[in-house]
Amino acid sequence: MAERHPVLVTRRLPPRPMELLHDRTEADVWEGEGAMDRDQLLDRIRGKRGAITLLTDKVDAEFLDAAGPGLAIVANYAVGFDNVDVDECTRRGVPVSNTPEVLTETTADTAWALMMAAARRVPEGDRFLRSGTPWIWGPEMMLGRDVHGKVLGIVGFGRIGQAVARRGSGFGMRVIYSDVARPPENIERELGAEHRELDDLLAEADFISVHVALTPETRRLFGADQFRRMKETAVLVNTSRGPVIDEAALAAALTAGEIFAAGLDVFENEPEVQPNLLDLDNAVIIPHLGSATVETRDAMGFLAVENLLKGLAGERPPTLVNPEIWELKHTS
Ligand code: DGY
Repeated sequence: MAERHPVLVTRRLPPRPMELLHDRTEADVWEGEGAMDRDQLLDRIRGKRGAITLLTDKVDAEFLDAAGPGLAIVANYAVGFDNVDVDECTRRGVPVSNTPEVLTETTADTAWALMMAAARRVPEGDRFLRSGTPWIWGPEMMLGRDVHGKVLGIVGFGRIGQAVARRGSGFGMRVIYSDVARPPENIERELGAEHRELDDLLAEADFISVHVALTPETRRLFGADQFRRMKETAVLVNTSRGPVIDEAALAAALTAGEIFAAGLDVFENEPEVQPNLLDLDNAVIIPHLGSATVETRDAMGFLAVENLLKGLAGERPPTLVNPEIWELKHTS
């Protein structure tokens, strides 16, 4: 029987992965409704061998100090890991894992839903009907923008960006993308995707979907200048990380009609939303639901638990973010 290690789980996971966790570890689970506050987090990580963390938990030097030298793995329950100071973890030999792949299609679905909703004014129509305002069908009532046949610009052409591009081809869209890394040629060919510099993409695309990781280079990648370069008919969708967009500048651009609409799943100062956006009918906003389906949250849970258990057993976690520590450990 494998040893049951003490681990911290900073928020209850869906029931099935949770059950596995309770079976295989001594799990200290935060049962509060919101995220753990910092003091709780630092207090309860003390002496733990592993942690399942969320994007709302900051894993930094202070966290690692509090945990102590026995910490064998930080398993982040998200594909994004900008909440983790990976360099610091690497320096201390702590493996960090994330949950890629299992949420790719679901997040792409969410981006697509936002695109359709913003282009075809779905939430606005819903609000309108619920308001009880009298209405009758009319040729110019609540006109949106066609999605099919348009140019789809993907910013950040990794797994999720490519999955969105694949959906675009079903809608007869021409796909262009911008990324610092070029994908293998067969991917470009399969998706009929052409590379563009970001400024050129902004000017050419009718729909722009953002899929970059949050890094110092991508923070506020979109601001007033970028909105001015976009078409007045453009729709911008963000399911990546909020700070990639200067939200006040976006609200100003939407108000001034510099772009047609935006669909946002993530926010610059999450969970807060720029107050100006709240009053805009052409901003479709949802509370970070990109991967929020029963199936995907289960799959993320199982992957996070698998990473955790491997880390605790001193084995290589399947989706390790800092593989260099592994290579170092096993070649020295
Ligand atoms: C992630 O995984 O990074 C998402 O933002 C939440 O699923």
